[in-house]
Amino acid sequence: MRISHLPVAGKLAELGVELRPGASLAELTSLAIGGATDRLLIRRYESLPEVIHLLDSEAIPHRFLGGGTNVLVTDGELPWVILQLPSVNPGVRIEGNCAFVDAAADLGGTVTFCAKNNLGGMEGLIGVPGSVGGALRMNAGAYGMQIGSYVREVELYRAASGQIETLRGEQVRFDYRHTSFAPEDVMLRVKLELPSKPYRQILDGIRVCNEKRRASQPLNQKSAGCIFKNPPGASAGRMIDELALKGHRWGGAMVSDRHANFFVNIGQATCEDMLALIDDVRERVQRSFGFDLENEVIVWKN
Ligand code: EPU
Repeated sequence: MRISHLPVAGKLAELGVELRPGASLAELTSLAIGGATDRLLIRRYESLPEVIHLLDSEAIPHRFLGGGTNVLVTDGELPWVILQLPSVNPGVRIEGNCAFVDAAADLGGTVTFCAKNNLGGMEGLIGVPGSVGGALRMNAGAYGMQIGSYVREVELYRAASGQIETLRGEQVRFDYRHTSFAPEDVMLRVKLELPSKPYRQILDGIRVCNEKRRASQPLNQKSAGCIFKNPPGASAGRMIDELALKGHRWGGAMVSDRHANFFVNIGQATCEDMLALIDDVRERVQRSFGFDLENEVIVWKN
């Protein structure tokens, strides 16, 4: 989708939007899969309601992309433009036990920044790729913790009202890899309240999580983390492994030979390759174990 209408491009520029024509989603996602479209970088997040209103009134379909680490995007010319907040470094401000974090901040960088300020609790999230906003919207977690436990306030664009609003932590439901945010809501900033811990102690925790992750996950391959959520009481990775599907391929998409719930792009994987592999594995797990695996990865088809 291209914004070729000059008056619209002009209005977007006035709203602080940087238009990057013909961006490749393969370059913006950790799976390295996805077609091309215009990318709109929102340099002043306060203008998001006006930007979205403008796009809606011009009938320009749009989707919001965070860090691109949990999304599988279709190939070819995409039928929507991409909105994104530009990355910020560090994008974190500390006040007492609270960290005020921009949604576009890198998750790992945020964990480290907080650690250096003697604020812990998020050690498990080290090594989880992506932005704080993305982690927030899916309630990312690992090694017994989840980010939702530390959320005290969220500033977000609410699709329902078309406004920027602030929610208190207790107004949001944080479940396993799921939250009560609406799909079209856009995370902007979050206030986390974290336990005090000496930097050295946090570093030890980070080291342990890093080692566990390195030992069991294909960190240097193109993936979206775990493809499926774990069903209650079971492990998707273990079931897929027990079916001897590690290394199983569809075109350029393969079940990782390191962790069976990671599907990797080993070369020129298309979205169709990855979707075929997902369907195939889901069916086999259903047949053998009776579990209907739910995607953790978000699929953007059309
Ligand atoms: N297992 C196998 N074979 C495999 C993978 C796992 O036998 O190929 C076994 C392991 O040996 C272990 C059990 O299955 O006994 C669970 O494995 P693991 O500890 O790797 O945990 P997981 O349930 O597969 C979850 C999260 C990960 C998170 C880890 C660590 C989900 C879907 N996955 O994985 O999160 O990093 O625990 O806490 O909840 C993600 O969400 O993208 C993700 C990577």
